[in-house]
Amino acid sequence: MNKIAVLTSGGDAPGMNAAIRAVVRTGISAGLDVYGVRNGYDGLIRGQWGYLSRRDVGGILHTGGTFLGSARCEEFYTLEGRQRAIEQMNAQGIEALVVIGGNGSQTGSYELHKMGFPVVGVASTIDNDLVGTDITIGVDSAINVALEAIDRLKTTAASHGRAFLLETMGRKCGYVALMAGIAGGAEVVVIPEQEIPPEEVAREVRAAYDRGKSHALIVVAEGAKNNARRLDEHFAAHPDAIGYDLRVTILGHVQRGADPTASDRLLATRLGEGAVRALVDGQRGVLVGLRGNRVTTTPLEEVAGRQKVIDLELLELARIMAK
Ligand code: F6P
Repeated sequence: MNKIAVLTSGGDAPGMNAAIRAVVRTGISAGLDVYGVRNGYDGLIRGQWGYLSRRDVGGILHTGGTFLGSARCEEFYTLEGRQRAIEQMNAQGIEALVVIGGNGSQTGSYELHKMGFPVVGVASTIDNDLVGTDITIGVDSAINVALEAIDRLKTTAASHGRAFLLETMGRKCGYVALMAGIAGGAEVVVIPEQEIPPEEVAREVRAAYDRGKSHALIVVAEGAKNNARRLDEHFAAHPDAIGYDLRVTILGHVQRGADPTASDRLLATRLGEGAVRALVDGQRGVLVGLRGNRVTTTPLEEVAGRQKVIDLELLELARIMAK
């Protein structure tokens, strides 16, 4: 193996740049030429890539986003799209691919693997919902953004004796909401993994009010059925239900644009190095992740199309701490 390529795919995540840097520098150390693909699978289909030197990946370790660009590529869901991508790589002499991304992206990499192309995935998404890793690149930074927002909202909430509803990202999962909620001392955390009706959320907030708390914070994941919009509608229709005056903040993509924390830079560097090591060792069709603080590989077959189960004991912890 002489030539490999690396791409970032799906939603960007803080630490992707650090992972690209690790792939490039480890690859060069192993005697490989490394090509950076523009805009994820979209660029792969169109053969949009360039050779990356050690210097090309200098100065990006601390930056959020992905300097290669990323995309959600509909065409890659088709067999023709994937065949075109393989043809492009064969024509360039690219012998293996590193895919840095989350659930959808690793489903794509598994499809390439099934078509016989050597591929290794690197676990990266702010959702932390990938099977095969305890933690994904980007989630720590996203939690820290949410936490900073919580701290600030609590300050103003306390000044005014208000409740705040904060919605975090998390398409189908509540990891960011739950972790930020625990670290930030939320009164209620609402996540899709264990839905709670608006009446119960209101009861919890009202109980905090009755206990004399000066303010209350509800953290809700965007993927919850009762997301911020639905809860806000419910509370507006039942103005006395929660006791406090309510304000709503939806964080959205602010969480994705952070510079990576130390933890994300370290994780990305370890996983990027692990991906190249896996390829050099002859591993194919695996996801590189972290389990029990060790860099591990898991067959993409066990990862693709699945969602990691959240530890609901942590939700109980949030409830105990809120009392
Ligand atoms: O998968 C990561 C994520 O940030 C989700 O939390 C969110 O629902 C989604 O991406 C948003 O996607 P987009 O940036 O394409 O709007």
